[in-house]
Amino acid sequence: MDKIKILIADDVKETRDIVKKIIELEDDFEIVGEAVDGQEAVDKIKKLKPDVVLMDINMPVLNGLEATEKITALNPEVIVIIMSVQGESEYLKKAMFYGAKEYIIKPFNYDTLVNTIKLTYERYKQINKSQEHYKDGKIITFFSSKGGVGKTTLAVNVGVELSKTKKVLLLDMDLMFGDISIFVDAVDSKTIIDAIDDENTDSYNSLKTYLFSYNKNLDILFAPKKPEASEYIGKEIVEKIINILKRHYDVVIVDTGINFSEVTLHILDISDYILFISNIDIASLKNTKLGLQVMRSLGYDKNKVKVVINRFNTDYGIGKKEAEEVFKEEIFLTIPDDEKIVLNSINSGKPFVEGNKLIKSKIEKAIETLCKTLEI
Ligand SMILES: Nc1ncnc2c1ncn2[C@@H]1O[C@H](COP(=O)(O)OP(=O)(O)OP(=O)(O)O)[C@@H](O)[C@H]1O
Ligand SMILES: [Mg+2]
Repeated sequence: MDKIKILIADDVKETRDIVKKIIELEDDFEIVGEAVDGQEAVDKIKKLKPDVVLMDINMPVLNGLEATEKITALNPEVIVIIMSVQGESEYLKKAMFYGAKEYIIKPFNYDTLVNTIKLTYERYKQINKSQEHYKDGKIITFFSSKGGVGKTTLAVNVGVELSKTKKVLLLDMDLMFGDISIFVDAVDSKTIIDAIDDENTDSYNSLKTYLFSYNKNLDILFAPKKPEASEYIGKEIVEKIINILKRHYDVVIVDTGINFSEVTLHILDISDYILFISNIDIASLKNTKLGLQVMRSLGYDKNKVKVVINRFNTDYGIGKKEAEEVFKEEIFLTIPDDEKIVLNSINSGKPFVEGNKLIKSKIEKAIETLCKTLEI
């Protein structure tokens, strides 16, 4: 049998030593690490991958309650057992609310500690196994090296189309000029900056209130309404938010701005697919060629970066073959130019793939093909 891996988080060395002594006497247990405050415990989870965290409540830097919430939000399979002294029952209730599975009252004896760990581990191992696994949403990012080529139009319509069969999150990460809220007629909704300002970014439950529910399968996190707000949104917070959210969706669609900011680079890194959007005019081709060179220098492989030509029309003088020669890259797909449908859809705040006409337009069919061709 694999040993139960335990991390001890307590700022008092004496307590850690006692717990260590007891645990070392048990063959089924193994101590994988110690932490002297809540933050250290949070930081060590990824590397040490403990099955169980023994967590003190009162600790400096980050207390045991907040540490428990952070750990269980990102690692729901980790079992947190709270160690507390008598008379902290209010805290205990809170701890359970924040995701702790069990508690023991200090001072405890040998048998209490060993049995609590064993029983809690066995109980939750079974539940973890039988429970539906958390999702690990595939991340599909819409990017371009020239503005106005149709990233947002395509991201929104692909999001709505995929939500017909999958659970989808649409993230507006064009943090300065994001306009997805206009495309879905929801300009008064909350945005990512509200979640950050309210410090409600530690769990799915907290973040949920800032998502716009477009339909039962599609949630949207909007970009701030003012460009200057983007200054307060760094890579760390974006990474945290995406890590928490993606566990609840099959697919995460990300719309981006035209920049290589820290946030954008992070998103490009964690994407399963980057749909590199271009138009077919000379200026677009030039910028896309340069942008694709950046993709290569970032080390992304060909399967990850897919070139999509939007507003394609064979009458425009440049064909698919010629574009491929310029890019030295295959074109994954083309989306037809259809100003009437697209403009109407944006102006009415209703994505065009919602059209319930019996006969589908070419552009709707192209979005369907795009969704089917992506391996998700
Ligand atoms: N397939 C299409 N056919 C016709 N017009 C289109 C098509 N796709 C996008 N457009 C038009 O192009 C304009 C820009 O689209 P969109 O806002 O989606 O681009 P973007 O790349 O997100 O721009 P930005 O760089 O500002 O974020 C819109 O006015 C839209 O109507
Ligand atoms: Mg846009």
